Amino acid sequence: MKQGKVDALLGIVFGDEGKGKVVDVFTPRYDVVARFAGGPNAGHTIIFDGKKFVLRSIPSGVFDEGKLNIIGNGCVIAPDLFMAEARELENAGYDLRSRLHISKRAHLILPTHRVLDRAYEAAKGKNKVGTTGKGIGPTYSEKASRTGLRVGDILSDFPQKYAALKARHEKILRDLDFTDYDISEEERLWMEGIDYMRQFSLSDTEIEINRLLAEGKNVLAEGAQGTMLDIDHGTYPFVSSSSTTTGGVCTGLGVGPGSIGEVYGIFKAYSTRVGAGPFPVELFDETGDRLREIGHEYGAVTGRNRRCGWVDLVALRYAIMINGVTQLIMMKSDVLDGFSTIRACVAYEKDGCRVTDMPFDTEGWQAVYQDLPGWQEDLSAMTSEEQFPASFKAYIKFLEDELHTPITILSVGPDRAQTIIR
Ligand code: IMP
Repeated sequence: MKQGKVDALLGIVFGDEGKGKVVDVFTPRYDVVARFAGGPNAGHTIIFDGKKFVLRSIPSGVFDEGKLNIIGNGCVIAPDLFMAEARELENAGYDLRSRLHISKRAHLILPTHRVLDRAYEAAKGKNKVGTTGKGIGPTYSEKASRTGLRVGDILSDFPQKYAALKARHEKILRDLDFTDYDISEEERLWMEGIDYMRQFSLSDTEIEINRLLAEGKNVLAEGAQGTMLDIDHGTYPFVSSSSTTTGGVCTGLGVGPGSIGEVYGIFKAYSTRVGAGPFPVELFDETGDRLREIGHEYGAVTGRNRRCGWVDLVALRYAIMINGVTQLIMMKSDVLDGFSTIRACVAYEKDGCRVTDMPFDTEGWQAVYQDLPGWQEDLSAMTSEEQFPASFKAYIKFLEDELHTPITILSVGPDRAQTIIR
């Protein structure tokens, strides 16, 4: 039997590219949808039939009844938030328990990890990362320092393990002089979440996935965040704490590189970033405000204003290289409707030095732009490529030429139906 493949669907800039919508469109093609990195810092929005869901930890394949969904070993999971998210789906009529498997090797986010997230941010002063406050950094740090708790730990002697780790965190917080917190209610819900999680299949998902691949089944690896937030390849230290790239698919699901098939890189027709850190294309003028307003660029998890700017080809080229992207997916093209000129950042410049490759130190660079004509038509009403205005076609062609990668899917609105496959 022909071995199945793992196709990766990755945000390739700063997250919020619209992965949830594409996974939802792609799900019918796959047998399994798996998350391999991140946790409730993600907010994947899916809109269909007038309904809207925001998924944080649960893969976006859950709306298709026949599919298996997996939270892989590379993920971190907060039982209380998982319970709230899963209950909302169950209340909406989706049966999760038989179709959602959680890796025993995924790490648990404790309530005290969230307090530590706040404490570490407070201690950073003006160098704050602007985290989502979900305890992501402290949980991954503990994974690396080999002191964390994993999902499989809830199956034996859990109260003792939990108490020991909580006590360790409380000591760190005392040492940081960060004592003004009360997690009693949060902890109650968290423990309820632990019991709730026990009703799911907590399994060796890496073995399960490899068995399914051997049976010829295909897996879609649903990325979280984006390449520029990757712990290795992003704008460190203003990054998240996981491997958000194709390499992270292998480690975060336990599959070999030979299993990887297509690598879909998702980006928006313009750029956004939430939280602190370098962002050379950021616009501080009314154009930035207009992109934010039309694109509804407010964080799905924290509600913060997203920083907005034109598309960044330096970042995109780098991400395509790091991930081995084979196909590009451009989202939110309709947000650019009505601009007389569209700009694209083709290089960065600092102190008379111009670069087209992503520099090590991403602070202080200015964007160098190429201007292209805009269009006045309403893309959101278009259902095929033939209807596209000439300027939009030229924008697509320009991007494909610059990035040496085909754009095979274009999204022109939030609904599932507003997706044009080329
Ligand atoms: P953390 O992942 O909560 O530690 O946050 C680290 C950085 O990544 C912050 O700048 C966050 O705003 C950003 N970040 C984390 N998750 C997402 C996401 O899903 N979309 C966009 N930005 C994110």
